[in-house]
Parts: sequence; C-alpha cells; structure tokens
Amino acid sequence: MSINYDLIFNNALKDLRQEGRYRVFNNITRKKGEFPKAVYNDQYGIKSDVTIWCSNDYLGMGQNPLVVDAFVNAVNLVGAGAGGTRNISGTSNYHVELERELAKFHNKDGALIFTSGYIANECALSTLAKFLKNCIIFSDENNHASMIEGIRKGNSEKSIWKHNDVEHLEHLLKNSNPEVPKIVAFESVYSMDGDFAPIEEIIKVSKKYNALTYLDEVHGVGLYGKNGGGLSEHLGLTSQIDIIEGTLAKGFGLMGGYITAKYNIVDVIRSFAPGFIFTTSLPPSLAAAAIASVRHVKNNHSLREALYNRAEKLKKLMVERNLPIIKNNSHIVPLLVKDPVICKEISDILLNEYSIYVQPINYPTVPRGLERLRFTPTPLHDDLKLETLVNALDKIWKELKLARAA
Ligand SMILES: Cc1ncc(COP(=O)(O)O)c(C=O)c1O
Repeated sequence: MSINYDLIFNNALKDLRQEGRYRVFNNITRKKGEFPKAVYNDQYGIKSDVTIWCSNDYLGMGQNPLVVDAFVNAVNLVGAGAGGTRNISGTSNYHVELERELAKFHNKDGALIFTSGYIANECALSTLAKFLKNCIIFSDENNHASMIEGIRKGNSEKSIWKHNDVEHLEHLLKNSNPEVPKIVAFESVYSMDGDFAPIEEIIKVSKKYNALTYLDEVHGVGLYGKNGGGLSEHLGLTSQIDIIEGTLAKGFGLMGGYITAKYNIVDVIRSFAPGFIFTTSLPPSLAAAAIASVRHVKNNHSLREALYNRAEKLKKLMVERNLPIIKNNSHIVPLLVKDPVICKEISDILLNEYSIYVQPINYPTVPRGLERLRFTPTPLHDDLKLETLVNALDKIWKELKLARAA
C-alpha cells in the first residue's frame, strides 16, 4: 500500500483554513528609532507605514540606543557567533557577566541563560522532574506551552490545578503522597488574559506541603517591581520563590531566556539539561546587549511608570466606548472577539484601512470561542496613537455589528 503523504499534509492545512485559524505571518519590518512605527510589506511587495500594537517588546528596548550600541560594539570586538556550545568554546565574558547580572537582578545565587524562554522552561522543568525521583509537578491549567512541554518531557506525574485556584491546588497537594518531591509551577502574569497569579498564597500552600516553587516571570521581568525584577519583586516575595524563569525577549527587547535559583539547582540544570548542553550558546553580542538592557531597565523605573500610564489610558478609552476588554491590572489589553474568522477580519481591516497592526489570537493560544485581539501599549504609544486605535475599533465594531461590553 502506498501512503499519500501529500494528502495527509494538505488535509491538515485545509482543516486549519476551514476553521479560520491558518496562521498568516505579516511581514512587519521595524525601523531603528521609530518603534512602534514599522513598514508592512504586503503579499504583492507593496510597502506601507503601520503602527505596531501587538509587540512583546513592551518597553521598546529592542531599539534603545544603549542596547543597540552594546550589540554593535560587541560584534565589532568579538565577531558574530559564539563559536560553540557553552561547554566547548562558546562561553565568553559576556555570557558570564550576563548570568551574574541576572542572578543579582533577582537576588539569587546563580543564573543560567538559554537560547529562549521557551527552552529555559522546557529544560528546567524536564530536568528537575527527571532528577527528583517520583516527583509530582503541580501545574496551573493556563501555563504556557513551554512549561507543559517541559513537564511532558520530564515524564513525571503531573497534577493540573484550576487556573489561579489556590484552594484546588491545596486540595491536590493534600491528597498527594507526602513522601515524594513536588514542584508547583505557575506564571506571575498570564499573557493572554493579563491577570496576575496570587503568588503569596501559592507560596504559602506550597511551603506547607514542602513543594518547590517554579515561577515563570516572562511577562513580569523588566515591568514590575522597583527594579523590574517582576511581580514577585513587586510583592516582596523574590526570596521565597525557589526558581524564577524569565526571558530577555520581552521587557528587555532581545532574545534568550534564563533561570535564577540557588547554586545547586542552577548547577544541576547546567550539568544535566540536554537543551542547554547540546546547543550553540547565544551570540556574545546578544549577551552584551542584554547586559545593557537589564541594567538600563533596572535603573529606570520611569519606563515602568510610563508603561502603566499607557495601559491605563488605553483601557479607559476602550471602556468609554464599551469595547469588550478583559479587565485586569496588568499592561496587557485583551479585546474579546470570540470568533476566529471575525478576529482575522478585524485584524485585516485595521491593517489595510487604518495602518494598525495587531495579530489575531486564535486556538490553541487561547481556548476556542475566546479568540481575541491582544493590544500591548508601550511607553512609545502616544495619546494620538491610542485615540486613533480606539476610534478605528469603535467604527469597526459599529460596521460589523459586534457585541459591546455589557
Ligand atoms: C509565559 C511564557 N513563558 C515562556 C515564553 C517563551 O519565552 P520566549 O519568547 O523567550 O521563548 C512565553 C512566550 O511568549 C510565555 O508567554
């Protein structure tokens, strides 16, 4: 029997298209110094100026002159690539210094950098699960795909607790074997709804049942706390979290991920995680830029204040027009559409008629029926940009007769 491979692949793609969630990558080329303005290259190669409204470069650090200069200077000094894995020829002063800086940033013994936040979660959780014999991982049901993948790879028992429901977490902990190691894994800021985890309560219950705490601060680092150390820093809880995981790609505007923890935990992951060991290390220039970015963000709380101001203002303008946003206390502004086809249609109208770029968010990033547009204002989105966006949305909501907030 011959297998029709083409048919298998084409049918899978056809299903995606029929559901309205086939992913189209918009070609958006940023211009140094002009963020959030960028150039959109459409499918016919026609270029137009647009405003980006969905970047995770939350503070615009990807274009900060200090960061760009640090990148360029390092390239000029040491060249473009790392030249090897961390173990074999790929560790430089920049890597060592960045890890020191990140450990200091979170007030921990040590830090370890990875090629992305995704890889950091996958490596750290899978290695810990394998290392701690008979371990159970307690995972918030809304945890990011990278944590889910790490937990799956670790092959340990897992127990999923209802999102942000500490009572449910306690129930599961209480009914688990007291003799086995446990890890409670959760995020500080959930990026699709923009809601915060009850970190203090989670720590309390985790300690009661002798579980390690693993906190993904990917959407918190750089953005919360007096020094930008994340929501855990803002709440004065950094020292009570066993492992903090973060990214260099969002608040710091670059690429790469990291964990910070006690020396022995960092050392175990450094020594046993295949996804850390068997891959080329980050380019030294990227590490140099990350050092500059972390230092700048840490020392400039005004950046965070400007971010909160923009997010508050945008939420207020949307509420005034009864646009159905998901309410939260974070810098993220999700606008519910609840239909993948309409979500894409709104995104296309915004792009083609208003020069506003926001990517539709569909399943599996969010559950089916909760499709949305996710707006991420930055300190660089001025009042005029906010008003232009909200006016455009208001018109589209009228034209398409979409549901308003109750
Ligand atoms: C909660 C969370 N953790 C981890 C990641 C992965 O981070 P990175 O983009 O650095 O791979 C993301 C990415 O968006 C995320 O939302």
